[in-house]
Amino acid sequence: MNLVLARSCSNSCPYCFETTERNEDRQNLISMENVNKFASWANNAGVPYLSLLGGEPFLHPKLADIIRIFRQTSPAMELQIFTGGVFNKELLEKISPQDTGLIFNINEPSDYRNPKHFKKVISNLEMAIRKGFIVVLGFNVWREDFDIKFMPSLAHYYGRTNFRWTVANPQWNCPPNVIKPEKFDVVAQRCFAMLKEAARLDLTADLDCPLPLCFFNESQLAWIRQYHPGTSARIGRCEPVLDVTPELEVIRCFALSKLTRVKLTDFPNENAIWHWFFRKVDTQLLPQGCFKHCGDCQHFKLGKCSGGCLAWHECIVDMEMQSETSKLVMGMQQALEEGQPTLALELYDRSSYYLKTAIPKFAAAIAAYQLGKHEQAFRYAAYAQDLTTNPGLRSQIGDLLQKIPLPGYKKRSHIPSGNDYVEFISNQNI
Ligand SMILES: C[S@@+](CC[C@H](N)C(=O)[O-])C[C@H]1O[C@@H](n2cnc3c(N)ncnc32)[C@H](O)[C@@H]1O
Repeated sequence: MNLVLARSCSNSCPYCFETTERNEDRQNLISMENVNKFASWANNAGVPYLSLLGGEPFLHPKLADIIRIFRQTSPAMELQIFTGGVFNKELLEKISPQDTGLIFNINEPSDYRNPKHFKKVISNLEMAIRKGFIVVLGFNVWREDFDIKFMPSLAHYYGRTNFRWTVANPQWNCPPNVIKPEKFDVVAQRCFAMLKEAARLDLTADLDCPLPLCFFNESQLAWIRQYHPGTSARIGRCEPVLDVTPELEVIRCFALSKLTRVKLTDFPNENAIWHWFFRKVDTQLLPQGCFKHCGDCQHFKLGKCSGGCLAWHECIVDMEMQSETSKLVMGMQQALEEGQPTLALELYDRSSYYLKTAIPKFAAAIAAYQLGKHEQAFRYAAYAQDLTTNPGLRSQIGDLLQKIPLPGYKKRSHIPSGNDYVEFISNQNI
């Protein structure tokens, strides 16, 4: 979870997806009252990691006090500060490397509005390392002609073992000031060259915001899996990030900040907020795919790739609308109540992978059970049980699982032969 300490920023990233937060007439600094409120909520909620960001967190005059409060209320919570690095170096004296890590988001020198800022960033970075802070470097690709050697050589020079990177994402419903998807083919080759350069210098690169699986080609993906597992693991699915504003409102992420926000203290923990956004926002956007070609893609249909950042969607999102999953559940429930389990299963089968969460899966298990399709019923029920952490639902699913007779694994209706696998593999267009 991330907490915005100051909306104003000393940096000038041309691609920044936080700018709409700043443009509107909102409060700049988080108050100490809200810091204390957040600290006590985070402690009760058992938040394991907290990133302090903005804008620029070093612009908050009470940054050191804020860190102290978090250290006292939640000693086990890991803290890190996301900084653009443009701050007064004395501020590093006021915080301790024992209390927080630092993530420096660094741009190429020509991307700073004030040419002196790059020097300041580098001198603060060096000082932070000398002082013993855990320091990670981050880099955002936002133009096609970026220097592929810039971040690898900087990270190497300062003795880092890795760096974070992504291709800058847009803000939903705003004209993009980042690389458009039509140019992904070209920019992917340069990103791959950057990853090669990183590996040559014995660095691993971890991806921040996700990219679509088709950004890289198959052989590039195979190479990336070996040299940059932290990049390959993040490619594909976009999930709620949860950024908390100075007013203690939560947005799904900066890229989708225009959509909606909820009150932090209305929820018991991060998991509950995550699920709220997933139900309200993600299930509306995910089934459509970010791009036209997503509809034909196996990885999209099987939930392995959402097409990258959901902010690329151009559709309208209706926050008042009942969630797509709720609609599916209600349709299936009605069919079951009317004694039409076949219809319930059809509704389930026709739905997108992304809507088939635990409850629709459980409903599908009931429908299959009523139709005497016991293997299918068992599989859906067991899968639903794995998907949910809700104790009530788990126990209901458990009751159903107790009842479903299974013929025994060796007597199952279809025993795959070697030929099935050959057929499966030959259908994959490898
Ligand atoms: C909005 S910044 C605020 C904190 C600080 N000023 C900084 O530069 O890190 C927080 C994070 O957002 C990332 N970021 C900014 N614009 C982005 C974009 N368009 N796409 C993806 N990440 C972005 C930055 O790299 C940074 O890691």
